[in-house]
Amino acid sequence: MENIKAYVQEHKDRFINELIELLKIPSVSADTAYSHDVFETADAVKASLEKAGCDFVEICDTPGYPIVYGEKIIDPTLPTVLVYGHYDVQPPDPIELWTSPPFEPVIKKTEIHPDGAIFARGSCDDKGQMYMHVKALEYMVQSNTLPCNVKFMIEGEEEIGSKSLSWFVERNQEKLKNDVILISDTGMISNQQPSITTGLRGLSYVEVEVTGPNRDLHSGLYGGAVANPINVLSKMIASLHDENNHITIPGFYDNVAELSLEERAEMAKAPFSLENYKKALDLNDVYGEKGYVTNERNSIRPTLDVNGIWGGYTGEGAKTVIASKAFAKISMRLVPNQDWEQITELFTKHFTSLAPAGVSVKVKPHHGGQGYVTPIDSIGYKAANMAYTETFGVPAIPVRSGGSIPIVALFEKELKSKTILMGFGLDSDAIHSPNEHFGIFNYLKGIETIPLFYKYFVELSK
Ligand code: BES
Ligand code: MN
Ligand code: MN
Repeated sequence: MENIKAYVQEHKDRFINELIELLKIPSVSADTAYSHDVFETADAVKASLEKAGCDFVEICDTPGYPIVYGEKIIDPTLPTVLVYGHYDVQPPDPIELWTSPPFEPVIKKTEIHPDGAIFARGSCDDKGQMYMHVKALEYMVQSNTLPCNVKFMIEGEEEIGSKSLSWFVERNQEKLKNDVILISDTGMISNQQPSITTGLRGLSYVEVEVTGPNRDLHSGLYGGAVANPINVLSKMIASLHDENNHITIPGFYDNVAELSLEERAEMAKAPFSLENYKKALDLNDVYGEKGYVTNERNSIRPTLDVNGIWGGYTGEGAKTVIASKAFAKISMRLVPNQDWEQITELFTKHFTSLAPAGVSVKVKPHHGGQGYVTPIDSIGYKAANMAYTETFGVPAIPVRSGGSIPIVALFEKELKSKTILMGFGLDSDAIHSPNEHFGIFNYLKGIETIPLFYKYFVELSK
């Protein structure tokens, strides 16, 4: 493995340019206007896996966007690593807040990334992190150091709920058989302090619609005499948290796995500066559930957030109107033992019951998934930690993340294997936001660290 550093140095310009080409294709899964580009990206991923040295690569059609499957089986008696990633990206909007166009990647230096970072939608989430695995495979094949079998499964619907992937996994258990699943689609603490994600939150995502009168009304002629759906919706939403920022839905916390004080003390050891956190977001204070600190609020505690709210007149100037309807999109981040389908039901029941006479309410569930936790005494975790320790010079810290990759819990259920989350992004990389970027340092470090995971995983499996 001594050569991986040299190999990365020698080929880094090409590695960066190949990623830039992939980032130019706007594979936005949420918006059908980009459908052609999503399919094109799948073809590009397929070609890259073939070039990197997979023996077999195919585009698997699904009811939605295709899954790219590739493999290199060197000896069926050796362990198999299944690499998962996604080639779809979030919509780029609000586009006017980007300092350079989202699908015209450019390298810019930042305070946190003095060696430069690639600015483009998908650079960190997840094309850049997924492509590190393709380049790590290239190295292992070129240097004849691939120590086990490898399978790749790269999907195009992660950002919209992985529906087709669930369909695919249920139908292909034998094909996807593996000893460990490896994913780079999370983050780490900093470029000096690597971390391994040991938990992900679950998710329930719903849309609500409040209907009042059968048409928009003059707010003077009717104001005060009929329910205003926007007023009512605002009040209903506001009542979902109490004065301590606890969620008020009956039964919501029933199955929440509480951490012991010891576990919370262990968590508090991870380096974190509240001052820097506030400064990075231009906040004069943080906000959240009473009794928990910031790093607990965004990882081990469930939450409820409005992601979008609309209705009535939002154009230029003033229009006096009472809208017929008001809408909101609401996400609930869940923690282990909360069942997302049960939470969706509890929400629906409670939210509907909040409606006063004079309006009707509809709740439409979008998608969801279970949370995930993984132990730190598994071979996979140890191998990942050994790999990070070697390339960063310090051991990785286990961290539970607030984000969700719902398919990870499904992998465990259907494929009976654990997932190791080796993320190389930073929270400041602005995933899902304008000006998403991925550090060149992080990209190359990832390529350098991944082959070591394979090496140690196979050694520890013996
Ligand atoms: N890669 C992210 C999830 C993530 C990011 C986890 C950083 C931990 C750290 C993934 O692409 C994502 O955005 N997931 C969605 C859920 C999905 C069902 C739409 C999310 O967390 O909002
Ligand atoms: Mn992702
Ligand atoms: Mn994402």
